[in-house]
Amino acid sequence: PANGLARTPPMGWNSWNHFAGRITAADVRDMADAMVATGMRDAGYVYVNIDDTWEGERDASGAIRPNDKFGDMSALAAYVHARGLKLGIYSSPGGKTCAGFAGSHGHEDQDARTFAAWGVDFLKYDYCGATLLYPVTRGNQEALFRRMGHALQKTGRPIVYSLSQSGDFDIWTWGPQTGANMWRTTPDISDNWESMSKRGFRQLDLTAWSGPGHWNDPDMLEIGNGGMTADEYRTQMSLWSILPAPLLAGNDLRTMNTVTKEILLNREVIAVDQDPAGTPARRLETRGEVEVLVRDMSDGSIVVGFFNRGDQTAKVGLDWRRLGDRFGHGVAARDLWRHTAVTPGSAFTGTVPRHGVVLLRVVPAPIGTN
Ligand code: DGJ
Repeated sequence: PANGLARTPPMGWNSWNHFAGRITAADVRDMADAMVATGMRDAGYVYVNIDDTWEGERDASGAIRPNDKFGDMSALAAYVHARGLKLGIYSSPGGKTCAGFAGSHGHEDQDARTFAAWGVDFLKYDYCGATLLYPVTRGNQEALFRRMGHALQKTGRPIVYSLSQSGDFDIWTWGPQTGANMWRTTPDISDNWESMSKRGFRQLDLTAWSGPGHWNDPDMLEIGNGGMTADEYRTQMSLWSILPAPLLAGNDLRTMNTVTKEILLNREVIAVDQDPAGTPARRLETRGEVEVLVRDMSDGSIVVGFFNRGDQTAKVGLDWRRLGDRFGHGVAARDLWRHTAVTPGSAFTGTVPRHGVVLLRVVPAPIGTN
């Protein structure tokens, strides 16, 4: 879209998955501090996004005010900005938001100006509250999303525009026309394997509509929220990164254990997500319960993910030639979770735990070295 933002998938944090309606300004400040202290900011996570339930009443001029849990939004934005981070906020084209708070209906331009004046850098615009006002049609959704997209543009402030619905009316085919930088493609994620894996793998059919500036969004990360195993969380991080998709953490950043940090802060995996070309992943093969996904990186390397969707440990293998002729003379391959080189040879063999992943980054060996 015209705003030129989100050339790589947006990275940051969002309040909904962990806090839902309990989020306060104090929590948001804590998250900003934690993003710095844990190294998340330096690893690329930049947006601190407040989801639904921050909204208060409108004042006499119709301007939206935050509720008592938030107070001064400009001060909150300044706090976040002072730490080298950006602030995100939430609204809906309805009279009410999904959680029943004040929506932007009839106040789109005014709200966009208010958000810009506060110093907001990201808007998540959620649909469900609008279904009370308008029949659920593609035309209504598109017009309402476009209205806010236009309003944001008119503010002149760079604000990433993120649409939230459930993937209705194949939104990926018309999302770009609304000025959006990303759009949800599925109903809400929850913190379990079924929900996460279904949403993640579904994206493989939609990659043609995702790329620099305009991303399919399989919803936020659940890593660290406790409902999945470490292998399952590694799968979410790997899958979202190879697709690639936005990386918005959804856990309490103050209380991350070592494993959660290792997953969210894996720079080799983040580099896959943030590859400047934004080339989508594709399925090389599905063998039993194992999906072998590959993605071309802008440096000529290929990322290969062996994703085991089954309940048993799986043996996997790949003749490097399958990646193309230039891989026929051997390769140098790195295991992006073990942070080690893969043993040389003409093929890869390994095992993948149930619901787990092996993620490799592979370059052709210089001729004569193998
Ligand atoms: C529905 C969205 O899909 C969620 O991510 C969250 O924003 C809630 N609405 C908030 O009400």
